Amino acid sequence: MKIIAVIGAGTMGNGIAHVFAQKGFQVNLVDTQEKALEKALSTIAKNLDRQIKKGNITEEDKINTLTRIFSYTSVHKGIQEADLVIEAATENSVIKKEIFTEIDKLAKPDCILASNTSSISITQLANCTNRPHQVIGMHFMNPVPVMKLVEIINGQQTDTKTIEAIVSLTKILEKVPCVVNDAPGFIANRILMPMINEAILALQEGISDAATIDEIMKLGMAHPMGPLQLADYIGLDVCKNILVILQDGFNNTKYAPADLLIQKVNEGKLGIKTGEGFYTYSV
Ligand SMILES: NC(=O)c1ccc[n+]([C@@H]2O[C@H](COP(=O)([O-])OP(=O)(O)OC[C@H]3O[C@@H](n4cnc5c(N)ncnc54)[C@H](O)[C@@H]3O)[C@@H](O)[C@H]2O)c1
Repeated sequence: MKIIAVIGAGTMGNGIAHVFAQKGFQVNLVDTQEKALEKALSTIAKNLDRQIKKGNITEEDKINTLTRIFSYTSVHKGIQEADLVIEAATENSVIKKEIFTEIDKLAKPDCILASNTSSISITQLANCTNRPHQVIGMHFMNPVPVMKLVEIINGQQTDTKTIEAIVSLTKILEKVPCVVNDAPGFIANRILMPMINEAILALQEGISDAATIDEIMKLGMAHPMGPLQLADYIGLDVCKNILVILQDGFNNTKYAPADLLIQKVNEGKLGIKTGEGFYTYSV
């Protein structure tokens, strides 16, 4: 594989573009919003600067990485030549199904179509295409350049050749592939999101304040970050969408997003990316 198309240049898309470009792949980064592309490129440049400061890469590595990234505002461009497409658009099954239907028509026959979805069924996305055996989940963790795990999700029809190709590619990125089967939330979010939601319910019920809830989970459970801080980091809209998918997928109200989470999302307080969530940030 030489050319990777990444669809969606938000929190995850820019990180995925960063790691592939740094390993020598050409990256075609696609987003419908010109502003998202501009922000993604400046975030990648800032993150590369951080790596230079730490002595991990040189200024020349930074320039080479950035010159391997091409940005497009239409999925029609940048897909045809790709060996792998990774969809990292908004966590919404209608949007993702539309994207998979469209990229299936544009991509080369041997191109693998992957989704970075946190919770949406890979089998359902695969069923929007004429190549369900070449569709797979490639769930990177945030922040992508730092986190080692890639949760790889087999759809019902994903073939062995596709799984092996994605496992090998993950290793080339110096990340650790963990292969799981398709189910709502897979493993990572099925376990993480109910914990985050429970922390929000505790805050909503006035059991304690955000900082104390986070401190208890950090010191008591040896978590590097408290659940409310982590929710701000992930994006409160993303958390809410995943909980809705878990609730619908398991047909169980225990996953229903807390009222306070819904309220924050409705107010546009989405966490770090908007400057306010459970905490405030300078953007
Ligand atoms: N945020 C996290 O911590 C995290 C972690 C792992 C996986 N994910 C998953 O990664 C995906 C992206 O999440 P994010 O946090 O980067 O979201 P985000 O909101 O930061 O970015 C999504 C981007 O997709 C773009 N987009 C929407 N529709 C599009 C389309 N039709 N074509 C091209 N671009 C389109 C938007 O303009 C936006 O820039 C989601 O599926 C999410 O569940 C997120």
